[in-house]
Amino acid sequence: MSSSILAAIEQRRSIRDFTDEMVDTAMLHTIIQAGIWAPSGLNNQPWRFVIITDTAIRSRLAEQTHYGHIVLNAPALIGVFLDRESMYDDLKDAQSAGACIQNMLLATEAIGLGAVWLGQILKNQEKVNQILDLNENQELMAVIAIGHPSRRDQQSQRKPLAEFIVKEL
Ligand SMILES: Cc1cc2nc3c(=O)[nH]c(=O)nc-3n(C[C@H](O)[C@H](O)[C@H](O)COP(=O)(O)O)c2cc1C
Repeated sequence: MSSSILAAIEQRRSIRDFTDEMVDTAMLHTIIQAGIWAPSGLNNQPWRFVIITDTAIRSRLAEQTHYGHIVLNAPALIGVFLDRESMYDDLKDAQSAGACIQNMLLATEAIGLGAVWLGQILKNQEKVNQILDLNENQELMAVIAIGHPSRRDQQSQRKPLAEFIVKEL
């Protein structure tokens, strides 16, 4: 790898095990700042964020996903939403949210924290909005669980590049 950005992309892992140490609010803002520097169609910046550290709210959110143990274990969560009133194209805005979330995951690694993108909770997005007291204009894209990693030995694999290239013309 010749570039630190390329190395960060390859070395980022989903982190699901965290210590009890709290995450500074300033660090969460740094992560969100990286998210909002993602590209978006027409630069419409449709993303919105909810920062959750409250234990009681985390417990209620944990009941909404099969991955509740991760939600309970993470000292901080960031809910990533699309603001329907700021959107212009469902597909492109969802793509922008994905770019935003990936920026956030990379920023999390860059400041020494760990994170995992939780998507399974989307099946209960209406309940999540109720718990967070959000109206239907906020459409849940993901919950990111964030904390200080308790271990860093996670492994992941990717198939060979050739399997993904359909054609080279
Ligand atoms: C759209 C999306 C949804 C995901 N949902 C979950 C989830 O609900 N629970 C979980 O533990 N991991 C979830 N992940 C993390 C993936 O399992 C993980 O990125 C994948 O296994 C590759 O591992 P790596 O991130 O360490 O490279 C999700 C990732 C994406 C992109």
